[in-house]
Amino acid sequence: MKVDDIKTIGVCGAGTMGAGIVQLAAQSGFNVKVIDVQEAFIQRGMSIITKNLGRLLSKERISQADHDAIMGRISASTDATVMADADFVIEAILEEVEAKKALFAQLEAVCRPDVVFATNTSSISVTQLAGVSARPDRIVGMHFFNPVPVMKLVEIIPALQTKAEAVDLTIELTKKLGRTPVPCKDTPSFIVNRILVPMIIDAVRVYDSGVATAADIDTAMKLGANLPMGPLELADFVGLDIVYHIGNMLFEYTKEARFNPPDLLRNMVQAGWLGRKTGKGFYDYAERT
Ligand code: CAA
Repeated sequence: MKVDDIKTIGVCGAGTMGAGIVQLAAQSGFNVKVIDVQEAFIQRGMSIITKNLGRLLSKERISQADHDAIMGRISASTDATVMADADFVIEAILEEVEAKKALFAQLEAVCRPDVVFATNTSSISVTQLAGVSARPDRIVGMHFFNPVPVMKLVEIIPALQTKAEAVDLTIELTKKLGRTPVPCKDTPSFIVNRILVPMIIDAVRVYDSGVATAADIDTAMKLGANLPMGPLELADFVGLDIVYHIGNMLFEYTKEARFNPPDLLRNMVQAGWLGRKTGKGFYDYAERT
């Protein structure tokens, strides 16, 4: 299959990442089929997209006709058989091997044999996921960044079993989505998270040792290192549970102490202070929501 043969992209999972991928694909001119396991999850994902496109419309970045055409290209369902129409599938469901294995089995039953299944996993080995699929040579890591409509990078991760043509197709598709593909070996956290997460973890240590307030650490890093967000603000944005999970995974893999999440991060996760999504992390979001 050539990239120009891809007309319809299937997206599995309508969470924050899935919704972002749906929006990006529809804005790039593709028809998009999105599935999730519950109608409520689909509603939530569609409301993220509606809000984002509404913002682009009000800023006159897109016309009303563009807006309507983008929305018209998206169809959502809780029925996985709609994926029969997909020429390329991107999964962004929960980070559990068993859940992804069950999804692959559903997709394998309905999708054409030449369809590539890309996974947006950030914390599971792509090779392991290929191993639980019946078409391991067509599983490719395609790791987007949050917020997907804004972030230009996609890490491309072949599993050990992936055929070169599936990787090439994923790279070409990434370019058609207006994103920059960066190939990367299948290693824990790939490139960005492997570098970004220890920086966030270090910022938590700096905060915990009383060097400065959270706001001052973030201001210092924004103005002194020219980051769009300070590391603690970014931790709240990504989710403290995600940072904690990735830190633990990297520590297990490398045994390097710098990846080991500090007690404060673990305690905050255990307290349910996960950042923006729960209204509290290093900052309080209750008033802003
Ligand atoms: N969805 C869509 N668009 C969004 C958005 C969202 N959630 N948030 C902001 N935007 C858009 C805005 O509409 C705005 O668009 P225009 O320029 O067209 O007007 C643009 O982004 C800038 O937004 P703002 O002016 O509101 O705010 P900002 O300048 O502070 O930018 C930001 C917001 C883009 C999120 C910026 O702060 C940023 O880049 N932060 C760092 C994000 C980052 O590092 N992400 C990677 C996290 S790690 C990861 O994702 C991998 C993983 O596996 C965990």
